[in-house]
Amino acid sequence: MKTKILVTGATGNVGAATIAHLLAQYAGAVEVTAAVQDVTRARQALLHPELRFVRFNFEDLSTVKAALAGMDKLFLLRPPQLADVRQYLEPVVLAAKAAGVKHVVFLSLQGVEHNKLTPHYKVEQIIRREGLPYTFLRPSFFMQNLSTTHRAEIAERSEIFIPAGRGKTNFVDVRDVGEAAARVLAGENHLNRAYELTGADACDYYEVAALLGRTLGRPIRYANPSVVRFCWRKWREGVPVPFILVMTALYMVARLGKAAGYAPDLQVLLGRVPTSLAQFAEDYRDAWA
Ligand SMILES: NC(=O)c1ccc[n+]([C@@H]2O[C@H](COP(=O)([O-])OP(=O)(O)OC[C@H]3O[C@@H](n4cnc5c(N)ncnc54)[C@H](OP(=O)(O)O)[C@@H]3O)[C@@H](O)[C@H]2O)c1
Repeated sequence: MKTKILVTGATGNVGAATIAHLLAQYAGAVEVTAAVQDVTRARQALLHPELRFVRFNFEDLSTVKAALAGMDKLFLLRPPQLADVRQYLEPVVLAAKAAGVKHVVFLSLQGVEHNKLTPHYKVEQIIRREGLPYTFLRPSFFMQNLSTTHRAEIAERSEIFIPAGRGKTNFVDVRDVGEAAARVLAGENHLNRAYELTGADACDYYEVAALLGRTLGRPIRYANPSVVRFCWRKWREGVPVPFILVMTALYMVARLGKAAGYAPDLQVLLGRVPTSLAQFAEDYRDAWA
């Protein structure tokens, strides 16, 4: 019997990478279902013939319960725009327990154990409280933020506009996070553990700009804006205020030099050195062309 795995956030960075690795490496042992808001759109985005799809919306509990029926394992993430854990995440954990799910792999956040105000901390606590066997994946800062959230400023203005000062950040590649998630979901030895998933590189944004400049063959400037200038620019660009606040909080952590931590967990899980920032830049160079 194949292990039935439900993957939330399937069309996002980590969910899509997790599905790709599950199907590439464990197709004989697992049956993977993508839990998605819009099945038609997801089918066009995720082109795996053996992947199943089910409608799932954190804001509609009936879809959550129906999707979880018969599942053995759940890959759970908190969509960035859903901050109210009691309203949107706790019901999913309770539904997973009621459905008899035997393992929840939750995409958390590096340093969450020291930051009780984050939604991720609250979700971890709820999963523990409910006694569901769990694995918490706590990644550092995604390299792919540079090719998504900050893509346009790099491509169009050859500039990185992030208020992180000279603080160093540890960067992890989402593809590695997805591979680690797949290993944890398909394996048996990861119950009730937390893994800190970091890349090998910690650097400040002057170093990131220099690296991108070398890769792209044109100068990239780190603007190093103040927090006020950053918030003002993002507000004028039409970025929603809650998202500006989340970004500011994240970059303040980096500014204070508290985002550079390294842990060996990812290397141990993957059995290889994590992807370097230089390799990521090479692989994604078209994003900033
Ligand atoms: N960015 C970082 O550096 C970083 C570092 C550590 C941890 N994290 C954590 O990683 C998580 C984000 O992961 P990600 O980057 O893979 O996500 P993402 O690319 O932003 O994708 C979000 C996913 O959630 C789905 N979604 C949104 N609203 C939904 C709803 N109401 N019901 C069902 N699905 C919904 C989206 O589906 P649609 O395609 O249908 O919208 C999409 O698949 C966050 O919790 C974040 O805090 C991020």
